[in-house]
Amino acid sequence: MYNTDFPPDIRQSPETGLIQKITPIQSGHILDLGCGCGKQSIVLATNNNKVLGIDLQDWMIDYAKEHNSNENTTYLCEDFMTHEFEENKFDIIISQNVFFHIKDKEALLNKIHDILKVGGQFIFTDLTQHDTEHNDDNLAYPVDPPFYSKLLNKIGFSNVLFLWEKHWIWDGIYSGKNFCMFKCSK
Ligand SMILES: C[S@@+](CC[C@H](N)C(=O)[O-])C[C@H]1O[C@@H](n2cnc3c(N)ncnc32)[C@H](O)[C@@H]1O
Repeated sequence: MYNTDFPPDIRQSPETGLIQKITPIQSGHILDLGCGCGKQSIVLATNNNKVLGIDLQDWMIDYAKEHNSNENTTYLCEDFMTHEFEENKFDIIISQNVFFHIKDKEALLNKIHDILKVGGQFIFTDLTQHDTEHNDDNLAYPVDPPFYSKLLNKIGFSNVLFLWEKHWIWDGIYSGKNFCMFKCSK
């Protein structure tokens, strides 16, 4: 899926400002869904917060364990969609630029809703593609942000905030796409 000629840390998504949108907590459970090399996970693993990073790619998880770990981080190399989590477990769930890899958005968001605590925060960015002519069969870009607004409300998230949509300005495989950020709670 990724060009492995580059060092892992530069194959992370560029900073989107997602972490700055989180209302800080002192002691809780945080999930970084599709954590990649753990760049966001380590930033959140402060105070008494326990951060679980989950990602499909073993080399990314190895990199996260080696370079972005402390006593508050745990990394798992597994598919989020099949891993069994405790219900109402997490105070915060973040995900940066991952959902376009997952086809069944309703199942994905239902699962996130199940494992988020009541009052917990859910913040994500994802890539969108208004032009559906050039779809890649392996990926599932949502067409536009209203898609997520409707689905998040339907599933039962509250305080759904569409924070922004921007054109993806960085070079690379995602150029030509837009990306968007949402924040909501349970
Ligand atoms: C574009 S990268 C973003 C990585 C990281 N969140 C960041 O911001 O740099 C997308 C990541 O999602 C992971 N991913 C895709 N589908 C997944 C799934 N079903 N479960 C866990 N991770 C998944 C990929 O392995 C990849 O590391």
